[in-house]
Amino acid sequence: MATIDQIDKSRVPQHVAIIMDGNGRWAKAQGYDRSVGHKAGVDSLHTTLEAASQIGIKHLTVYTFSTENWNRPKQEIDTLMNLISFAIQHETEGMIKNGVRLRVIGDFDRLPEEARNRLTQCMNDTAKGEKISLNLALSYSSRWEITRMVQEAAQAAAAGTLKPEDIDENYVSSHLTTRDIPDPELLIRTGGEERISNYLLWQIAYSELYFCDTYWPDFSAENLYEAIVDYQQRERRFGKTSAQIQEENK
Ligand code: IPE
Ligand code: IPE
Ligand code: MG
Repeated sequence: MATIDQIDKSRVPQHVAIIMDGNGRWAKAQGYDRSVGHKAGVDSLHTTLEAASQIGIKHLTVYTFSTENWNRPKQEIDTLMNLISFAIQHETEGMIKNGVRLRVIGDFDRLPEEARNRLTQCMNDTAKGEKISLNLALSYSSRWEITRMVQEAAQAAAAGTLKPEDIDENYVSSHLTTRDIPDPELLIRTGGEERISNYLLWQIAYSELYFCDTYWPDFSAENLYEAIVDYQQRERRFGKTSAQIQEENK
């Protein structure tokens, strides 16, 4: 397992995105109800956020509830929504103290009122946080946000306020839910599955992907360090040749 000393502090990614997967399987393996796994997952997020902040990551974007997760049994959805409300209320004071700013990306209107109120309160209370931004992807999917962006662009074009030639990559980036957030350099998925599950499809175009078998409730600071060390060993070429990259880095 990697230690914090193995990380090159001058090349820490600014933005790390995580697909926090494996709560249910973690619980099942120990004979518990899935809800126990989700509760343990909140503790893992707390630990990971602290570790991320300590090594200088500026944005942590975590897949918390996907658009597709609305298809789970109602009881599990209710448990998750209650857990989100409870955790946010419980964590807000610590977040303010530690300079954490909360953001939410996703279809906010679909969330229950209680969760919306708690999240709004926490976003307001932590708005001045500058150490790290915790971005919760809630009721989020890429296809939802891209579809919404296209609808808005079509409406603006029909109203005459947007010319088709003004739609460029910059326009698209600045009309997604992540408009104020740089693209993630690194995407981590825990829990052993190697898929993206409708997460940040536009934003991860050039992200480094890191998959690990650890179930999310077992994910620790050392697992995060390991992912960062792995990321730092890669050569990001962005379509260029290795020789070009080495010349640029001289
Ligand atoms: C991730 O864990 C949390 C959410 C999707 C809300 P899962 O609940 O997907 O756990 P597994 O994949 O069934 O183990
Ligand atoms: C992705 O995990 C969503 C979250 C982690 C919140 P899922 O467990 O829902 O993904 P699939 O269904 O296995 O692709
Ligand atoms: Mg899963």
